[in-house]
Amino acid sequence: MTRAVCPGSYDPVTLGHLDVIGRAAAVVDELVVAVGDNMSKRAWFTPEERVEMLTAACAEWPGVSVALFGGLLVDFCRSQGASVVVKGLRSGADFDYELAMAQMNRRLSGVDTVYLPTAPEWSFLSSSLVREVAGLGGDVAPFLTPAVAARVRQRAEERILNSQPGQ
Ligand code: PNS
Repeated sequence: MTRAVCPGSYDPVTLGHLDVIGRAAAVVDELVVAVGDNMSKRAWFTPEERVEMLTAACAEWPGVSVALFGGLLVDFCRSQGASVVVKGLRSGADFDYELAMAQMNRRLSGVDTVYLPTAPEWSFLSSSLVREVAGLGGDVAPFLTPAVAARVRQRAEERILNSQPGQ
C-alpha cells in the first residue's frame, strides 16, 4: 500500500492545488494533505482555517485526509507511515526550488518526492497571487471553490477594515 503526503501552505487552497491533489489521489492508495507553515510567507489564514477549507474541498475523495504538521516534513511523513511526498510543478522555477528540498528530504530520511505537472490552465496560479489580487479588490472566484472564494473575500474585507487609520 502506498501512502503519500502532499504538503503545502495552502493559504488558501486553489483549484491548482485541488487538480494536483485529485490526480495524486488517483495514483496512490492514501494521500495525506499536510498543511504546514512556510516561514518565508505571511499567512492570511490560520493553519486551522486552512485545514477546514481543505477538508471541505477534498471531501469528495475517499482516500484523502487533511492534517496539520509542524517541524520537519520528513518527521511528519515518518509519523504517518508515508514513504512518498507528492508535489505539483508549475514551471522550471518551481523545479529549481523543489529539487533541493527533495534531495534534502531524501538525504534526511529516505523519503522520496514525486512531481505531477500542474494542468496548463493553472500554471500561473499561486496562493500568493490570489492573496495579492484579492487584497487589491480583484475577482479571484475563477481560481477557487465557491466556499474558499467567499472566505477570501471576507478576509480581504477584514484586512482592509483593519488597515484603516483610527479604526
Ligand atoms: O506551499 P508551500 O509554501 O510551497 O509549502 C512549503 C512547505 C510547507 C511544504 C515547506 O516549507 C516545508 O516542507 N516545510 C516543512 C519544514 C521542512 O521540512 N523544511 C526542510 C525542507 S528540505
